[in-house]
Amino acid sequence: MFPLKYGRPLNFRRWLDEHAQQLKPPVGNQQIWQDSDFMVTVVGGPNERSDFHDDPVEELFYQFQGNAYLLLWERGRYERVDLREGDMFLLPPHTLHSPQRPEAGSRCLVVERQRPAGENDAFQWSCAACGTAVQRHEVTLRSIVADLPPLYESFYASPEHARRCPGCGEIHPGRDFQAWHRTLAKHFPALP
Ligand SMILES: [Fe+2]
Repeated sequence: MFPLKYGRPLNFRRWLDEHAQQLKPPVGNQQIWQDSDFMVTVVGGPNERSDFHDDPVEELFYQFQGNAYLLLWERGRYERVDLREGDMFLLPPHTLHSPQRPEAGSRCLVVERQRPAGENDAFQWSCAACGTAVQRHEVTLRSIVADLPPLYESFYASPEHARRCPGCGEIHPGRDFQAWHRTLAKHFPALP
Protein backbone atom coordinates (compact mmCIF):
# COMPACT_ATOMS: atom_id res chain seq x y z
CA MET A 1 0.00 0.00 0.00
CA PHE A 2 1.25 3.48 -0.81
CA PRO A 3 2.15 5.52 2.26
CA LEU A 4 -0.60 8.13 1.99
CA LYS A 5 0.12 10.89 4.47
CA TYR A 6 -3.53 11.43 5.38
CA GLY A 7 -4.54 7.79 5.33
CA ARG A 8 -7.21 5.99 3.37
CA PRO A 9 -10.69 7.36 2.75
CA LEU A 10 -12.65 7.66 5.94
CA ASN A 11 -16.34 7.17 6.32
CA PHE A 12 -17.62 10.64 7.14
CA ARG A 13 -20.78 9.50 8.94
CA ARG A 14 -18.77 7.17 11.14
CA TRP A 15 -16.21 9.92 11.80
CA LEU A 16 -19.05 12.23 12.89
CA ASP A 17 -20.42 9.59 15.27
CA GLU A 18 -16.97 8.97 16.75
CA HIS A 19 -16.37 12.71 17.33
CA ALA A 20 -19.84 13.67 18.54
CA GLN A 21 -18.41 14.57 21.96
CA GLN A 22 -15.86 17.06 20.57
CA LEU A 23 -18.53 18.67 18.39
CA LYS A 24 -20.48 19.78 21.48
CA PRO A 25 -19.59 22.66 23.80
CA PRO A 26 -17.16 23.58 25.19
CA VAL A 27 -14.93 22.47 22.27
CA GLY A 28 -17.42 22.57 19.41
CA ASN A 29 -15.09 21.75 16.53
CA GLN A 30 -12.66 19.12 15.32
CA GLN A 31 -10.08 19.14 12.53
CA ILE A 32 -10.15 15.93 10.50
CA TRP A 33 -6.56 15.70 9.21
CA GLN A 34 -3.51 17.18 10.94
CA ASP A 35 -0.59 19.00 9.26
CA SER A 36 -2.42 19.21 5.94
CA ASP A 37 -2.54 22.22 3.61
CA PHE A 38 -6.35 21.98 3.57
CA MET A 39 -7.57 22.50 7.12
CA VAL A 40 -10.81 20.54 7.11
CA THR A 41 -12.87 21.11 10.21
CA VAL A 42 -16.35 20.15 11.37
CA VAL A 43 -18.00 22.78 13.56
CA GLY A 44 -20.98 21.98 15.75
CA GLY A 45 -23.57 24.11 17.50
CA PRO A 46 -24.47 25.69 19.79
CA ASN A 47 -21.79 28.36 19.49
CA GLU A 48 -22.27 32.12 19.39
CA ARG A 49 -19.67 34.85 19.59
CA SER A 50 -18.99 38.52 18.99
CA ASP A 51 -15.59 38.46 17.25
CA PHE A 52 -15.12 38.93 13.51
CA HIS A 53 -12.45 36.91 11.72
CA ASP A 54 -10.37 38.50 8.97
CA ASP A 55 -8.98 35.47 7.14
CA PRO A 56 -6.28 35.99 4.46
CA VAL A 57 -7.48 32.85 2.65
CA GLU A 58 -10.85 31.67 1.35
CA GLU A 59 -13.18 29.66 3.56
CA LEU A 60 -15.60 27.06 2.25
CA PHE A 61 -18.69 26.37 4.36
CA TYR A 62 -20.96 23.35 3.86
CA GLN A 63 -23.80 23.50 6.36
CA PHE A 64 -24.85 19.87 6.10
CA GLN A 65 -26.98 19.63 9.26
CA GLY A 66 -29.16 22.26 10.91
CA ASN A 67 -29.01 26.01 10.30
CA ALA A 68 -26.51 28.74 11.13
CA TYR A 69 -25.61 32.18 9.87
CA LEU A 70 -22.63 34.47 9.37
CA LEU A 71 -22.60 38.09 10.39
CA LEU A 72 -20.41 40.01 7.95
CA TRP A 73 -18.80 43.35 8.72
CA GLU A 74 -17.46 45.85 6.22
CA ARG A 75 -16.48 49.43 7.00
CA GLY A 76 -18.94 49.84 9.83
CA ARG A 77 -21.85 48.00 8.21
CA TYR A 78 -23.28 44.59 9.07
CA GLU A 79 -24.92 42.01 6.88
CA ARG A 80 -26.42 38.64 7.74
CA VAL A 81 -25.78 35.63 5.49
CA ASP A 82 -27.89 32.60 6.33
CA LEU A 83 -26.37 29.14 6.12
CA ARG A 84 -29.42 26.93 5.86
CA GLU A 85 -29.19 23.16 5.98
CA GLY A 86 -27.71 22.00 2.67
CA ASP A 87 -26.16 25.39 1.81
CA MET A 88 -22.61 25.68 0.51
CA PHE A 89 -20.85 29.03 0.61
CA LEU A 90 -17.40 30.19 -0.49
CA LEU A 91 -16.29 33.22 1.50
CA PRO A 92 -13.69 35.44 -0.21
CA PRO A 93 -10.44 36.28 1.64
CA HIS A 94 -10.47 39.25 4.05
CA THR A 95 -14.26 39.19 4.39
CA LEU A 96 -14.82 39.85 8.08
CA HIS A 97 -17.23 37.23 9.41
CA SER A 98 -18.63 36.05 12.69
CA PRO A 99 -20.22 32.58 12.54
CA GLN A 100 -23.34 32.19 14.69
CA ARG A 101 -24.54 28.69 15.44
CA PRO A 102 -27.49 28.89 17.83
CA GLU A 103 -28.79 25.36 17.04
CA ALA A 104 -27.57 22.48 19.17
CA GLY A 105 -26.55 19.56 16.98
CA SER A 106 -25.97 21.67 13.86
CA ARG A 107 -22.97 20.64 11.78
CA CYS A 108 -20.87 22.58 9.27
CA LEU A 109 -17.87 21.43 7.28
CA VAL A 110 -15.35 24.28 6.97
CA VAL A 111 -12.33 24.13 4.65
CA GLU A 112 -9.54 26.71 4.63
CA ARG A 113 -5.89 26.67 3.58
CA GLN A 114 -2.81 27.02 5.67
CA ARG A 115 -1.77 30.66 5.54
CA PRO A 116 1.00 31.62 3.10
CA ALA A 117 4.13 32.95 4.85
CA GLY A 118 3.71 36.59 5.84
CA GLU A 119 -0.12 36.58 5.60
CA ASN A 120 -1.73 37.35 8.93
CA ASP A 121 -5.14 36.63 10.31
CA ALA A 122 -6.92 39.24 12.37
CA PHE A 123 -9.79 39.28 14.83
CA GLN A 124 -11.91 42.36 15.25
CA TRP A 125 -14.52 43.39 17.78
CA SER A 126 -17.03 45.95 16.56
CA CYS A 127 -19.61 48.18 18.16
CA ALA A 128 -23.06 46.58 18.32
CA ALA A 129 -24.70 50.00 18.55
CA CYS A 130 -23.14 51.72 15.53
CA GLY A 131 -20.79 49.32 13.71
CA THR A 132 -17.51 51.12 14.36
CA ALA A 133 -14.45 48.88 14.84
CA VAL A 134 -13.44 48.85 18.52
CA GLN A 135 -10.34 46.60 18.61
CA ARG A 136 -8.42 44.64 16.02
CA HIS A 137 -5.78 42.04 16.88
CA GLU A 138 -3.48 40.60 14.20
CA VAL A 139 -1.94 37.17 14.58
CA THR A 140 0.40 34.96 12.56
CA LEU A 141 -1.75 31.87 12.81
CA ARG A 142 0.15 28.64 13.23
CA SER A 143 -2.24 26.75 15.44
CA ILE A 144 -5.91 27.49 15.98
CA VAL A 145 -5.74 25.63 19.28
CA ALA A 146 -2.67 27.44 20.69
CA ASP A 147 -2.79 30.90 19.11
CA LEU A 148 -6.41 31.97 19.56
CA PRO A 149 -7.25 31.67 23.28
CA PRO A 150 -4.54 34.20 24.37
CA LEU A 151 -5.76 36.65 21.73
CA TYR A 152 -9.37 36.41 22.96
CA GLU A 153 -8.22 36.72 26.56
CA SER A 154 -6.24 39.88 25.84
CA PHE A 155 -9.40 41.47 24.42
CA TYR A 156 -11.58 40.29 27.31
CA ALA A 157 -9.02 41.53 29.83
CA SER A 158 -8.65 44.95 28.20
CA PRO A 159 -9.93 47.83 30.35
CA GLU A 160 -13.26 49.47 29.70
CA HIS A 161 -11.72 52.54 28.04
CA ALA A 162 -10.04 50.24 25.50
CA ARG A 163 -13.46 48.70 24.73
CA ARG A 164 -15.19 52.07 24.36
CA CYS A 165 -16.48 52.67 20.83
CA PRO A 166 -14.59 55.59 19.22
CA GLY A 167 -17.73 56.31 17.20
CA CYS A 168 -20.52 56.46 19.79
CA GLY A 169 -19.04 55.74 23.22
CA GLU A 170 -20.82 52.41 23.77
CA ILE A 171 -18.73 49.97 25.85
CA HIS A 172 -18.16 46.63 24.15
CA PRO A 173 -19.21 43.99 26.72
CA GLY A 174 -16.11 41.86 26.07
CA ARG A 175 -16.67 38.21 26.97
CA ASP A 176 -20.46 38.66 27.29
CA PHE A 177 -21.44 37.84 23.72
CA GLN A 178 -25.12 37.64 24.67
CA ALA A 179 -25.09 41.29 25.78
CA TRP A 180 -23.39 42.20 22.50
CA HIS A 181 -26.10 40.38 20.52
CA ARG A 182 -28.87 42.08 22.50
CA THR A 183 -27.42 45.50 21.67
CA LEU A 184 -27.03 44.49 18.03
CA ALA A 185 -30.67 43.35 17.83
CA LYS A 186 -31.77 46.68 19.31
CA HIS A 187 -29.80 48.87 16.92
CA PHE A 188 -29.91 46.68 13.82
CA PRO A 189 -33.34 44.99 14.14
CA ALA A 190 -33.37 43.87 10.51
CA LEU A 191 -30.31 41.59 11.01
CA PRO A 192 -30.86 38.56 13.26
FE1 LIG B 1 -20.46 52.67 18.50
